[in-house]
Amino acid sequence: MSGSIIRKRFSQGAEIFHEGELGSCAYVIESGSVEISTRRGGSKVVLAQRGPNEIFGEMAIVDDKPRSATVTAVEDCELLVLSKAQLQQRIDNLDPVLKMVLGVILDRFRESLRSMHSETRSPTDVISAVDPQMQIKAYKAAINRIELEQSLRVAVEDHQLELFFQPLVGGRDGRLRGFEALSRWRHPERGLVSPAIFIEAAEESGLIFKLTEWALHSACAALKRIEKTPLFYDDFTISVNVSAHELSEPAFINIVTEAVQRTGVNPKNLTLEITESALMKNPDATLEVLEDLKSLGFSLSIDDFGTGYSSLSYLKRYPVHAIKIDRSFIVDLERDPRCVDIIRALVGLGHDLGLNVVCEGIETRTQYDKLLELGCDALQGYLIGKPMPLDDALARMCAPAVCEVC
Ligand code: CMP
Ligand code: MG
Repeated sequence: MSGSIIRKRFSQGAEIFHEGELGSCAYVIESGSVEISTRRGGSKVVLAQRGPNEIFGEMAIVDDKPRSATVTAVEDCELLVLSKAQLQQRIDNLDPVLKMVLGVILDRFRESLRSMHSETRSPTDVISAVDPQMQIKAYKAAINRIELEQSLRVAVEDHQLELFFQPLVGGRDGRLRGFEALSRWRHPERGLVSPAIFIEAAEESGLIFKLTEWALHSACAALKRIEKTPLFYDDFTISVNVSAHELSEPAFINIVTEAVQRTGVNPKNLTLEITESALMKNPDATLEVLEDLKSLGFSLSIDDFGTGYSSLSYLKRYPVHAIKIDRSFIVDLERDPRCVDIIRALVGLGHDLGLNVVCEGIETRTQYDKLLELGCDALQGYLIGKPMPLDDALARMCAPAVCEVC
């Protein structure tokens, strides 16, 4: 992906690259110095000199345009090469607003360079002219994101967010074992906004903490009502999804305990679902947080299991109660016999580690039967029930709806 670090040496007077070339890397000067120049009306104009710990050649990498200037070693140089791949990956992960700002700054800078060439426009200027379609796209994406973040800020206070509850049933007895709480946002103009869109915006803007705090309080308040229904029992749980950002936040434990204490529910009836990839981002720190959560009595489950490259040595040490096999294996179960083999192996692994194995995304009777045969402990999916408003979930806890399978 990003590869190892490469160094290059250039002798005094050597041209490192020429204006107008396509760039494949940027450079950090470790020793020596370089001169950055351009040609104006046939003669050389020195734009800058750069020395140790300074970077050059970054522009062509950031906006994929030809080199804006020529760079020459003014003394022997040792340069650290930052490959396009190493930088591109980071640029791709940038928040769209920052990406747009970066693009605008570079465009303005290029514009001022072009004005230096006003008398003699070189072919490079034409090539490096801003692509208006791309610019419009970048602007739209950025404005969209800013609007989304602003309206998400008011959504929590304005009660536009709502939790829906998707049922989980036991594998052996088909008994209702719990609900996964899923956030829904009824935007006054946009209508229902998919969590896939607003969770990403919330994570990037830091609003995710507010959102999870709201989700935890709402889930606990719902649990308090569900506790009073006839089908509630000791091991019944409501699960709430927690992101990698939150796990690394020291205040997270306080937010969860506060939600439980304020509503007076038993932490054991609250499951925190954490994705496998989130756990693996910082496995040692995560292990500590999970141990604290477990000692406070919470139930823990690894979500999207099978997609996050879990280290088995960590899996053995994680104090979790369940793994939730990723839906991608279930979707392909009927078509691809290898999915059956993978699920069988994951169920075996989970059971050997003393964990409950949950499967989600079940939509057909064939999938349901196969997963029962493979020994899944709990099942979730449209076949069993779609995510529903709290009132419907409460009704189901009083007189279970007759569905095909439970
Ligand atoms: P890039 O366009 O990839 O290649 C030439 C590099 O020279 C450019 O990235 C910048 O790093 C640098 N550069 C261009 N113009 C200037 C300037 N006016 N002052 C300092 N550095 C410059
Ligand atoms: Mg989940």
